[in-house]
Amino acid sequence: MKNIFSNKEFLKKTTLVLFALLFCVFALWAKQDQPPAKAPAPENAAKANPVKPTPESLAKGKKLYVIDCAMCHGDNGNGKGDMASDMKNVTDFTNPDALKNRTDGELFYAIRKGKGEMPPEGDRAKDDDVWNLVNYIRSLAKK
Ligand code: HEC
Repeated sequence: MKNIFSNKEFLKKTTLVLFALLFCVFALWAKQDQPPAKAPAPENAAKANPVKPTPESLAKGKKLYVIDCAMCHGDNGNGKGDMASDMKNVTDFTNPDALKNRTDGELFYAIRKGKGEMPPEGDRAKDDDVWNLVNYIRSLAKK
């Protein structure tokens, strides 16, 4: 039997396949090095809330909340809105522990960019509106 490794065509193909594999491994490795797309960047978490939780801010926040958020987070913030029935972990804002360890900047970012099953608010709301929302949902926590 002829030695298979002396077959030029075979060698050529094997080399090609090996290079293709090597490339895949490299591509996977390079991908792993990138941070996940939705991880809040540290500068977002540290972003300070420029809007004070005045009655005016809370009223504006509530107005938007009723339109954009209540269907999932519930009218009173308990996470049991109409659309929440088939979602597992809609954040319950009435639970004082729910947002305890989150900075205002992180909440701002989650609202703006979305999180898990929550769709992003995107550019629909102005920065101040998103801060009003942050202030409002914090006011829903039971004391
Ligand atoms: C389609 C349903 C849906 C809508 C609409 C929605 N949310 Fe959410 N929200 C979720 C879900 C689900 C989570 C939990 C996400 C996770 O942690 O994976 C969440 C989480 C959050 C969190 C917690 C983020 C964190 O880092 O823990 C905040 C704050 C929030 N939502 C605010 C809002 C505000 C404000 C609005 C309205 C502008 C809104 N959400 C609209 C489903 C929704």
